[in-house]
Amino acid sequence: MLTIAVSKGRIYEEALPFLAEAGIVPTDDPTTCRKLILQTTRPDVQLVIIRATDVPTFVEYGAADLGIAGKDVLLEHGTEALYEPLDLNIARCRLMTAAHKDAPPITGRVRVATKYVKTAQSYFASLGIQAEIIKLYGSMELAPLVGLADCIVDLVDTGNTLKANDLEPRELIMNISSRLVVNKAAMKMKNADIAQLLAQFEKTLAQRV
Ligand code: ADP
Ligand code: PRP
Ligand code: MG
Repeated sequence: MLTIAVSKGRIYEEALPFLAEAGIVPTDDPTTCRKLILQTTRPDVQLVIIRATDVPTFVEYGAADLGIAGKDVLLEHGTEALYEPLDLNIARCRLMTAAHKDAPPITGRVRVATKYVKTAQSYFASLGIQAEIIKLYGSMELAPLVGLADCIVDLVDTGNTLKANDLEPRELIMNISSRLVVNKAAMKMKNADIAQLLAQFEKTLAQRV
């Protein structure tokens, strides 16, 4: 049995064509059904539906053999314990700093609200900027508006969320896309199955360019 960890929402939706190429079609729809383990049209493959930030944990501990996760989540988790063989080029966005549109450029000491604590810490350290990081779990865009932080580190796609809150993008930290990650032991023990899946995912990718 191969277990693949995916999160509901954009990653699940964008992963479906890759899975379909490998003959994997879930037999339930996670948006309407409360099941957390989904069987598929392949009896040897199941999906586990988890929070995006939990995907690296499930794969690291072998609770899932494979997973699909954003590079933002992988960076924050630490990538040492996982194989990351394929960039699926889905759920693309940018990890950026952002601040109020009228706020001055960031210099000296700065207070940063983000859910990407480690990534933000090392980003500001690399610039020699002393940053006090305030961990939030969502609605980061609110922090500069209520005086909680000078700026935020968050994902930007269309920029609509920033704009709607009088913020503007400042510095690009990293371009983000979702990656296939594989448990290290599974890569050895289930190599044939995983190699075949990888080849089918690569085929889907190749058809897109
Ligand atoms: P969460 O509940 O953790 O916010 P999402 O489905 O919104 O879950 O995000 C999952 C992943 O999708 C993120 O880790 C990121 O890589 C990517 N992502 C998040 N927001 C966007 C967006 N607005 N546009 C494109 N990709 C995004
Ligand atoms: C994500 C992200 C930003 C927004 C950026 O939120 O956290 O808030 O998208 O996209 P935009 O630049 O196109 O506006 P998401 O839609 O995932 O909502 P969430 O707060 O539930 O994670
Ligand atoms: Mg989100």
